[in-house]
Amino acid sequence: MPRSDTTHPRPVWYFSEYAPVGIDLGSKAAVAAYDRNQGTDPQADDALLDRLGVSEGTQLVDLACGTGSLAVQAARRGAVAHGVDVSEEMLAFAKARADRFGVAPQWHHAGFLDYAHQGPLADVVTTKSALHQLPDFWKQQALLNAAGMLRRGGVFYLWDVIFSFEPSSAETHLQQWIDAAGRPDGEGFTEADFEAHVREEFSSYAWIVEGMLQRAGFDIVSRAFPRPTHAEFCCRRR
Ligand SMILES: C[S@@+](CC[C@H](N)C(=O)[O-])C[C@H]1O[C@@H](n2cnc3c(N)ncnc32)[C@H](O)[C@@H]1O
Repeated sequence: MPRSDTTHPRPVWYFSEYAPVGIDLGSKAAVAAYDRNQGTDPQADDALLDRLGVSEGTQLVDLACGTGSLAVQAARRGAVAHGVDVSEEMLAFAKARADRFGVAPQWHHAGFLDYAHQGPLADVVTTKSALHQLPDFWKQQALLNAAGMLRRGGVFYLWDVIFSFEPSSAETHLQQWIDAAGRPDGEGFTEADFEAHVREEFSSYAWIVEGMLQRAGFDIVSRAFPRPTHAEFCCRRR
C-alpha cells in the first residue's frame, strides 16, 4: 500500500502507482525469477555506474530499483545509494542482496510520483526499464519529481522500452520485438509477457519522451536507440 501522508493527502484523481500494470512482477515467485528473466548483470551495472561517474560519496537514487542490483553495486563502490520501488517483494529481495554484500543502501517503499527525497540533493538519478509503468501525463510528473531531487548539473539516466520506429511501421516493429525477445516458459520473459507489455503498459515514442525530459528541466546530453524498441537518455539537470 502507498505511504499515507495525512498532512498532504493525494487528490482522488491521482494515479494509482501501487498497482503496476502488465507483466506480473509483484509475487514472490515473479521476483525470484526476475533477475534471470531480465538478465540482471552486476558487471553491466558497474559499467553504467562508471559511465555516470558514480564513485565514493556520490548521492544516487535509483527509481523503480526492482531487485536492487544497481543500487547495491553503487553502494559497493562507496556511493550513498537509495533504491525506490512500489513493490515490497522487490525491496525485500534487494535488501537481501545488499546484506549478502555487506552494504546498506537506503530502501524506500515509494513510487516515481510520491517518493519525497530527504537529505542532500542527488548527484545521479537513474531509472531502468520502469518509466513505462506510467501513462504519459504521469511520466511527465515523475520526471519533474526526479528533477526536483537532483542538484543542478546532476545526471539523470533513463533506459526503457521507448519506441524510435516510424509510427506507420509500429506493428511490424512490435511483432519483431516480441518474436525475437520471447523465451520459452521458465527461461525468461515469454512472448505473452511482451504482448502484455505492448497491450497494457505505457511505452511511448522517443520524441514524446524527449519533450518531457526537456520540460522537466533536463538537457539531453546523449541519446541512444540500440533497438527500435529501446532507448537510453543521459541528461543533466539545468
Ligand atoms: C521491469 S522492473 C525494473 C527493475 C530495475 N530497474 C531493473 O532495471 O531491473 C520494473 C520495476 O518498477 C517497479 N514499479 C512499477 N511502477 C512503479 C512506480 N510507479 N514507482 C516506482 N516503481 C515502480 C516495479 O515494482 C518493478 O520493480
